[in-house]
Order: sequence, then structure tokens, then C-alpha cells
Amino acid sequence: MAIARPIPDLNDRPYFHPDFLTHRWEVWGVWGVWEVWGERFLPHPPTPPTLLDFSLVRNPGHKAFVAVYNQRMQKLTITRPDDWHLHLRDGAALKAVLPFTVRQFARAIIMPNLKPPIRSVADAACYRDRILAAIPEGQQFEPLMTLYLTDNTSPDEILRAKESPFIKAVKYYPAGATTNSDSGVTDILKCDRVFEAMQQVDMPLLLHGEVTDNDVDTFDREKVFIERHLIPFKQRFPNLRVVLEHITTSDAVQYVLSANTIAATITPQHLLFNRNALFKGGLRTHFYCLPILKREEHRQALLQAATSGNPKFFLGTDSAPHTRTSKESSCGCAGCFSALHALELYAEAFESVKALDKLEAFASFYGPDFYQLPRNTERITLSKTTWRVPDEVPFMESGLVPLGAGQEMTWQMV
Ligand code: DOR
Ligand code: ZN
Repeated sequence: MAIARPIPDLNDRPYFHPDFLTHRWEVWGVWGVWEVWGERFLPHPPTPPTLLDFSLVRNPGHKAFVAVYNQRMQKLTITRPDDWHLHLRDGAALKAVLPFTVRQFARAIIMPNLKPPIRSVADAACYRDRILAAIPEGQQFEPLMTLYLTDNTSPDEILRAKESPFIKAVKYYPAGATTNSDSGVTDILKCDRVFEAMQQVDMPLLLHGEVTDNDVDTFDREKVFIERHLIPFKQRFPNLRVVLEHITTSDAVQYVLSANTIAATITPQHLLFNRNALFKGGLRTHFYCLPILKREEHRQALLQAATSGNPKFFLGTDSAPHTRTSKESSCGCAGCFSALHALELYAEAFESVKALDKLEAFASFYGPDFYQLPRNTERITLSKTTWRVPDEVPFMESGLVPLGAGQEMTWQMV
């Protein structure tokens, strides 16, 4: 059980607990929390730690044995999270993937890039009904709907959306940027009247932040979008609340930190993998998503942002199911499916930088705070258990390959 780790210097803070021989011990409030919470001393951890094993060492400064926590956290209980960026599709695909999200999340912001897209409040109402009908018996889930912005969206539609109780944002896809974005916006300047209305009624705008220009390298498309479009846009609409979705670069992190009324979602794939994952031993289409995975330095910047405790960065999986055959094709679709194990993936990422104590706020607090919705009250638990991500889950005619299929995970939701 014991993991070889440097033993903290106990001379200043000797600790002898009468129960230590039982090898079971409540650690709430003692300095051992230092070890429990990712090697940071946190006097008030957000969740009471559970029982831990410990080993005994001789403390040279004192004539007694002392107990040292030498084990990482075994359980993590946090407020039930929400997914602030999710693709559910429709029909049989919706029925196949929704139960995974419902198991982990209380609510999700539902992407409108269906075929045809969700362009009006009426479209969103019908789509919402189909989602509600697909929720497994006896389970709770609240879909938060979005509208798909086109060159022809009217300011009146924004006013109607604002009046509807379930539309929470409008999604901007640059035409041709990604899956089902053909009806997206051809020029951001064409929508200024709509943005004006959104700013006026305080309707958040969700950005797929990439340019589509052929002369811009795929790996630079987010950075160039920020420079060419987002910075001028924010100057025109300083009070319009914006989420820069699925950020992938240190440039995006820097921009979000520097600007007002803008937040960002971060996916598990961009926290866990860099672009080498796309090419390891061959072409790995299941790691292909848009914006594409970037260099390691960008992954590090995202990890830093996600675990910084800054409320501008919150969870959005961008879980985007595509059949195995549509991924493993000469023109494979963009999208990683992570709804199966999203929280476990985030836990791995946060633990890798010893920041599990920051997971709850990232996953469960900052999203609702941005959207001005109440935080959830229910709680969920992850336990330290080794398991393997399945190679495939049933989906349509050819199955669905989850992110990191076949890889070992060390956290599991119970
Ligand atoms: O990888 C992606 N897949 N990025 C997107 O922006 C869309 C998504 C999808 O709908 O498949
Ligand atoms: Zn998406």
C-alpha cells in the first residue's frame, strides 16, 4: 500500500495519535492534510477526507513513533458537475450517448450543430423535448439549449431566445470550420446587429474560435482568430459575455486572462494529450478534433489555467460522438467522445499536476457562476481504482471509440 515518497520533516510538527496502531484514522483537520491534498497544506479542504492507511517512521527528534501519511487520496467527493459544451446529436445517436452524460453531469450546454442546425427558438424547443424524452427512466438532467448563429439570424430571434427559459447562449461557428458548420457565419461583421441585441439583453455568445482561411496553418487557426477577429470584436462589444470554447493554446489562455467579460471552456483531450498523440505509430484519427491538439507547451498552459483556480476557466468536454467508420475513413470526422469517462479524464489531468483540490470549482462552480445559474447541491464520488477504457461502446452501426480507448485510468466514478 505504501508509496515510497519523501517523508515530510516532522521535527517541527511531531504528531502522535493514540489510534495509530489500528492503521485507520480520520484525518480531518490534522496537518496530514498536507499529503492528502496533493502536497499542499490546506487547512480547510473542500471535502472531508476519508480514512487513510499510514505507515510508521521513527522521528529522530522525538522518542516516539509518529504516523506519516504516505498514501494519496483514495476518494474524491465533489458537487455534481455540469458540462458546459456537449454534442448530443439526435435520434438513435442521442439515445445512445445521453445516458453517459446523465450519469456524470446535472446539466449541459447542448451544441446546436445538427443537420439542419438549431436556428430558432422553435427548433430548440423541439430538440429539447427529444433530449428530455431520451433521458433514462428515473434520472435527472437539464439540457441548456443554444441557437446556431447564421448570416441570417435576426435580432428578434435573440429577443425571443432571451424570453425562453431554456436557451442560455448563441453559438458562433465560422462557416466551414468544423462538423456541420456549413450554415455558420461567413463574416463576423455580418452579424453586428445580432451581437448588438445580444449585448443589450445579456445573452452569452459561444465562439468556435478558429479562422478557416486556407493560407493559415491548421495549428495557428485559433491564435489568428483571436488576433484578427476576437480582439476587434471585443472592442466593438465590450459588455457582451463571451465563452471562447475548447481553447487549445497559450495564446488563448493569455487573451482570456487579459480581457473582460470573457471565459473559456477546456476539454479533457486538450489537457491530457498534445499533438504527438495524433501520430504515435501511425495516424490516430480518434485523437482528431477541432481545434486540433497542439504542442506540449500549449497543453501545459491549459493545465496551468484549468488548475489555477481562476473562474474564467471551466469544464466543457466537447464530447462529440462519431461512428467508428466515420472516424476511420480517408476523410475522418473531427471529434473525441469523452462523455463515458469525462470526470475521470479531468481527474487524471488535475492529479498529474497535484491539483485535485482545484477540480471541484473548475467542474462544478465556475460554469454556473458564469451562466448565472445556481450551483448544483448533489454530490458525486470518484474513487481511486484502476480500470481500462473500453475499446468501443455500442453506437449506431459501427460503434463508438472513447477518448483514450484501451488506456489505463486510475480514477473511477462510483
Ligand atoms: O472536434 C469537433 N467536433 N469540434 C467541433 O467543433 C465540432 C465537433 C462535432 O460536432 O463533431
Ligand atoms: Zn463542440
